Formats: sequence, C-alpha cells, structure tokens
Amino acid sequence: MQYKRMPIEIESPESLGYDSIECNLAESSVRDVHYEDLGIDLKGLVIAYGDHVGKPALRELIANDNEGISANDVLLTVGAAGALFIIHSSLLKKEDHLVIIRPNYATNIETPRAIGCTISFIDLVFEEQYALDIEKIKSSIRPNTKLISITTPHNPTGTMLGAETLSSLSAFAKDNNCYLLVDETYSDISFQPKLPLAATMNDHVISVSSVSKAFGIPGIRLGWLITLDKELQELFLAAKEQIHICNSVVDEEICYQYLLSKQKYFPSIKQEVRSNFMILKKWISNHKYLEWVEPSGGVVCFPRFKSRTEIDIEKFYRILLADYKTYVGPGHWFEQSKSSFRLGFGWESHNAFEKGLNNIDSAIDASMAKQGLALYS
Ligand SMILES: Cc1ncc(COP(=O)(O)O)c(C=O)c1O
Repeated sequence: MQYKRMPIEIESPESLGYDSIECNLAESSVRDVHYEDLGIDLKGLVIAYGDHVGKPALRELIANDNEGISANDVLLTVGAAGALFIIHSSLLKKEDHLVIIRPNYATNIETPRAIGCTISFIDLVFEEQYALDIEKIKSSIRPNTKLISITTPHNPTGTMLGAETLSSLSAFAKDNNCYLLVDETYSDISFQPKLPLAATMNDHVISVSSVSKAFGIPGIRLGWLITLDKELQELFLAAKEQIHICNSVVDEEICYQYLLSKQKYFPSIKQEVRSNFMILKKWISNHKYLEWVEPSGGVVCFPRFKSRTEIDIEKFYRILLADYKTYVGPGHWFEQSKSSFRLGFGWESHNAFEKGLNNIDSAIDASMAKQGLALYS
C-alpha cells in the first residue's frame, strides 16, 4: 500500500483548528451533538472486547430500519471510512480494475489508488447536472473490473441516483461478475423519496453507511457495511478482525442508545438542514457570480464561479478564511478546479450560516481581479 495524505484531510477544519473558523461551511455533516445533551447512560457497561461482528442489538436496530435484510447481513465498522477500507483492502489486488465516479469522497479513490489498482473515472459534469450516466459506466467495464464505486446522495454535489438507475446498475454489476459499492453515508437526509438500501438489490451490491453525517455523532466512529453474500461477509469480518478485532464497546453503546431514541433528535436536525437549505437556495438562485446544481440530498453542494467571473481565486479563499473566518472546501479537495467549492449547509446555525454566505459575497468582492483576468472559465 502506498499511503499518501489527502488534501481534504490535511486542510480539514479539525486540522486547521475549529477556533480559527467562525463560519464553518466546509463541513460535510450536521452539527456535532454534546454528549450531555443525549442523556446516555453508560453505567453497567463492561469495557470488554465486543462481539467481533458488532453489538447484536445495534445490528438488529440497523437491520430493522431497512426492508430485506437481517442483522446477520450487517457488519459494524469504525465509521464508513473503516467499512470502505475493509471492502477495498479485502476485495482488490493491484491487477484489478475499478470504475469510480469523480468527484467523490476522497477515500473512495485514494485507497484503491494506494493498492495500485487501475481506475477508470466517470467524471460528473456540471453541464449534465452532475447526473450519473450509467452508459459511461457500462462502456468502461473490462474483463478484470472488480468493483464499481458510487456515492448517493453524492459528496460533494448532493445529487442522487434514481431508484431505477440503482436497480439497473446493480443488475449490471451482477451480470458482469463485479461488485457494486454504494456509499450511502448521506442516505438519511434526502429531499426526494429515500432510495431502497442498495445491498438489498442483489448479492453483488455492498452498502456502506454510518452515523457520522446525518446524526451529529461522528466522534464515536461507528459505521457499517451490508451485504447479502455470506462468504463476502466472512471475508470482511476476517479483515476487520485483523485490523482492530472489534468496535469500541463504548462507541457501540452510545450509538445504540442514540439510535433507539433517534426520533427525539432527528426531526429537528432535518428541519434545521431544510431551513438552511432554503436560505442557501434563495442566496444562490440569482447570484451574480456563482451557479450550482441544486442538491437532492445530503448536506453539501458544489457551486462554481460562473465562467466569466474575473476573480483571483487563491485570493478569494485566502481572504474568506483570514478576514472573514469562513471556510469552504476548495475544488482541489476533490481533484477538481478551485473554481468550484464544497459548501456545507448542515453544520452552522441559521445565523452563522447566513453570515457565512454574506462573507462569501464580501470575499468575492475583495478578490475581483483588476484587468479582465478570467482565471477560471
Ligand atoms: C461519502 C462519504 N463516505 C464516507 C465518509 C466517512 O465517514 P465516517 O465518518 O463515517 O467514517 C464520508 C466523510 O466525509 C463521506 O462523505
């Protein structure tokens, strides 16, 4: 494995220090919750090794949230990131080929890259509304294609696949004897009907998710993968056991108690996301310099500067952070031009969010290039 740190992690808000950011629009999740607000009781918990597959009652709870699976199909992991690493490292060899949509959550690309696999990227295009063209995937398949990797709702664009596309892609993966990995980490926040759990489509589809993005508890590092294929499940368990044996029982217990009473917290989280989304929509709809593809789910979108905007883009990001303490995720986090940036609308309270958007406007004004310098067209 050839590991390399990813810009999205090197420049993440937590690496930068939350103290240096007042309006955090770079974040890809809802606001973190405080432990004491959850009323969680850890008394009686034995700090032992946990069940290697994951706390049975928690797996049951996750399975009950979806039709067509049982707790046996669920393997708990250290965040969705842990699930992705288990899947990539156990399925892929250097000689394998993958088809991956881009942009994407960086790990979905970097781990196969670190293994040394050959990758065909399916680039999502602004002018095509960042829609996934399944024909492009089909025509990229090779005899040694092991995995097709997609994310829905998508990070960083917030676009979503239709149920029919998902179903047809699942059938295509099975027919071609490769796996379809569906990163569904944002699936609990959809502005359109929630898609069925991808792993229920057939035994060649693997779903990945976690409690990090929609529930505000990323710090407990709890995610999962779901597959109906028993042999694959056994392989993934072997990988998990070699990496870290089991999950933290403390994390599992917190996650379990949170999900048991999720109806107490989740409706207001969704409400806040929705109302920030409406503020954002109003702000960007008639924006002089920015345009977007409206997201259909999740808590992020990927706006870009209009082609004739004469802006010094480096100055824009610099001023936005240094003078306005406002942070967004520049395009290079996703191997894209810096003329696009990820803007998260789930993290900040309404006031801070509105202020952050105003700060973007001020930073744009302060960064307009002088002499017809259309840097990003
Ligand atoms: C699409 C996607 N998948 C997975 C992850 C990793 O999440 P977790 O905190 O559950 O490891 C992220 C985090 O940003 C993400 O955006």
